[in-house]
Amino acid sequence: MSSISLRQIKKSFGGLTILRSIDMEIEKGEFVVILGPSGCGKSTLLNVIAGLDECEGQIVIEGKDVSGLEPSERGLAMVFQSYALFPAMTARRNLSFGMEIAGTPKATVAEKVAWVAKLLQIEALLDRKPAQLSGGQRQRVAIGRALVRSSSICLFDEPLSNLDAKLRAETRVELKQLHETLGSTMIYVTHDQIEAMTMADRVAVMHKGKVEQFAHPQSIYEKPASLFVAGFVGSPAMNFIEGRLDGSGRFVTGDISVDTGDYAFEEPWASGDAVLGVRSEDISVVDCGAPRSIPATLAFTELLGADALGWFDCLGKRFSVRLGIEAARSMRKEVGLRFNMATASIFSKATERRL
Ligand SMILES: Nc1ncnc2c1ncn2[C@@H]1O[C@H](COP(=O)(O)OP(=O)(O)OP(=O)(O)O)[C@@H](O)[C@H]1O
Ligand SMILES: [Mg+2]
Repeated sequence: MSSISLRQIKKSFGGLTILRSIDMEIEKGEFVVILGPSGCGKSTLLNVIAGLDECEGQIVIEGKDVSGLEPSERGLAMVFQSYALFPAMTARRNLSFGMEIAGTPKATVAEKVAWVAKLLQIEALLDRKPAQLSGGQRQRVAIGRALVRSSSICLFDEPLSNLDAKLRAETRVELKQLHETLGSTMIYVTHDQIEAMTMADRVAVMHKGKVEQFAHPQSIYEKPASLFVAGFVGSPAMNFIEGRLDGSGRFVTGDISVDTGDYAFEEPWASGDAVLGVRSEDISVVDCGAPRSIPATLAFTELLGADALGWFDCLGKRFSVRLGIEAARSMRKEVGLRFNMATASIFSKATERRL
């Protein structure tokens, strides 16, 4: 049984469609990341699941249709981006308040607060008010408040976006460990692809109110289902070349033609206008004029520490190519670029879907 089923979820504000028919099956204990640019509908989707917003369609949580139920009846815990702690209450009170309202026995409340404080290492901070806590500490209290509800499902809306880079990285690891310890189902919204790639069992990439792909992070990276996913995930961004498939196994752009023999087409006999996508690590630099290579001119190199990027002008565009440090240091100006078609992506220009 799925933990959460979303069936044909639609949502509009005024005349504006925000969510367009979203279908998702989330497994029990899964860590699902919803990734997408600002304004694509991530928070709206989370609010709809939590019951904070109404929608069309059906939401089933652990076998029960909750579509018409109030947020409090859905048995979910949610962490908001803004933390939403009560400023006049101590951290301890912020943790215990919800349980007290629900009539939980005093001893159980104390037990749970102690448990979560230890888990999140905030024991020493329990008697402080939010204003006396750092952003990261407030974040822990907000997460703790969700955890004491002992829900088997937790929703997080960009919980780390107010933290500095170092704390963000640390909290990311902690949250992931927490997920492993608790085994609860987690849905985590972010626009940060590093968070998505490192934390998720599966990533749902959203664009303009639709889920474009819902898959393991590595398959999102290696086999993006659409041009949007290909361009949104990965840094540097995937290199794109417009051209056409000639129907006999070649991708043609200008007077250059590339053999697609190593490419595993999802649709055999694809032809017509297409976009070839190659990641910086799927291009090798060879001698100018070498077989199966395209002439290119080095514009500049960037040293990144462990490796480097070479930026080349080729086919009227600028291409990024991942290089070793030594190769980058001794790179010639005029070279050939060779694409590894086995790991490339090809999209239909018309539908923008993977071919
Ligand atoms: N209450 C509302 N009334 C009207 N439009 C709304 C409302 N809430 C959200 N929207 C619109 O719906 C769209 C999606 O908003 P949403 O907050 O879900 O985006 P998001 O993906 O969470 O973005 P961000 O990464 O910036 O938080 C936006 O265009 C937003 O302006
Ligand atoms: Mg949002």
